[in-house]
Amino acid sequence: MSVQHDISAVSTTPDGCPVSSVTQSPTGCPISHQAASFDPFRGAYQVNPADALKLARKEEPVFYSPVLDYWVVTRYDDIKNIFKNPELFSAAITLEQITPVSEEAIEILDRYDFAPGPTIVNEDEPIHTERRRALMAPFEAEHVEKLAPKITEVVTSYIDRFVTRGKADLVDDLFYEVPCIVALLFLGVPDEDIETCRQFGMQQTLFTWGRPPAEEQNRVATGMGQFWEFAGGLVEKLKKTPDADGWIPHAIRVQKDNPELITDNYLQNIMMSGILAAHETTTNASGNAFRTLLENRDAWEKLCNDPSLINKAIEECLRYAGSVVAWRRMTTDDTTVGGVEIPAGSRLLIVTSSANRDESMFPEPDTFDIERSNARRHLTFGLGTHTCMGATLARQELRIFIGELARRLPHMRLVEGQEFTYLPNTSFRGPEHVLIEWDPTQNPVPADRP
Ligand code: HEM
Repeated sequence: MSVQHDISAVSTTPDGCPVSSVTQSPTGCPISHQAASFDPFRGAYQVNPADALKLARKEEPVFYSPVLDYWVVTRYDDIKNIFKNPELFSAAITLEQITPVSEEAIEILDRYDFAPGPTIVNEDEPIHTERRRALMAPFEAEHVEKLAPKITEVVTSYIDRFVTRGKADLVDDLFYEVPCIVALLFLGVPDEDIETCRQFGMQQTLFTWGRPPAEEQNRVATGMGQFWEFAGGLVEKLKKTPDADGWIPHAIRVQKDNPELITDNYLQNIMMSGILAAHETTTNASGNAFRTLLENRDAWEKLCNDPSLINKAIEECLRYAGSVVAWRRMTTDDTTVGGVEIPAGSRLLIVTSSANRDESMFPEPDTFDIERSNARRHLTFGLGTHTCMGATLARQELRIFIGELARRLPHMRLVEGQEFTYLPNTSFRGPEHVLIEWDPTQNPVPADRP
């Protein structure tokens, strides 16, 4: 059983600051002003989650948030221990709606027979590892490498469209569509509508990790219902071509040998969550990486002059500005985290972006250093039994984006004065637009000049 408290006890002032009338944590400890005012859906956390928790990392590294009814964990070692102890910290709530769903929204979902069940990332042992092993083959490096020529071809054709233009929005012109095409290719889905997948991805982020107001909940629930149907339809289509390449056809073949391990409901679930897992995360990671690299001009120029630094730079981008900034677990027993008592059934928001700026692990953590020796120890892909299965593919996409843009547009700059905006939610983070400009007559590749 989970311990949940009345989050309606949280209201906001006219200027949007959360005010909580809950004065004690579930263990009876007084709640500090800092903890009471922690609100991941707006303000400082939306601007930069790691900065927003800087003081907490120092003074109150584990605290109860009445706005969320979650315990918030901010330090590297505590989060690492949570990831490494799946028996005590269950993944079951990973895809739960962080904002309770209204009655009306539930009715809408029922109309679509929306029945999401387990989908690897929210499963516990031993079934989690059994399914993960059975479904792992397409994620292995040798399979992922085979996709590289196709990904390079798609990236090249997208850059061709804007290279002579002198200005672009890296998200709209490149990072949104290409990871979607790659995600569908990886999943084995031929020729799907990218815009449909884009809309569904945004709905799922808001539905699972956002705080949509009541009227928006119905719209989001309708989107989720449609996404669920869409995923089911895709699985049915793929069952007609079981020998095809891709993750879902692979899972359909596993189902033939072991229908109890991989049910139809499971296939529909992994199709739906797979689109989000493979697409949004990588789009956001690319937007974050280029915002960061271009804001740190010396690093970008160094990289353009020496592409052998790309792999290290990718890890530093993922550490400094990861695209998954917080993940969730639930305690299965009474325990302590960072010396703080936490009862069984408590929900934890483990802020990996905060861990990635913990100075006990990363010296001078707020400095962006593409040659940092231990950047790869970031927690952006999680750790332990649930570590991201798609990390090799995500790294490969980032490598191709950085390599191609460094080669063809090393002189691009961020448009000055632009404001970076983010979809408000606890976990998935990337700029909605990254505007760049350059002088196309100076393009280094002669064929790219107007
Ligand atoms: C930069 C991009 C990405 C980031 C930051 C990211 C992050 C994550 C995180 C934080 C987890 C949960 C780890 C945990 O609970 O310990 C995860 C799991 C997972 N990711 Fe990714 N991911 C990315 C790209 C991808 C891609 C491209 C795919 C698919 C092709 C993918 C597929 C998965 C799957 C299947 C899981 C579940 C693994 C399990 O529970 O055993 N991810 N990812």
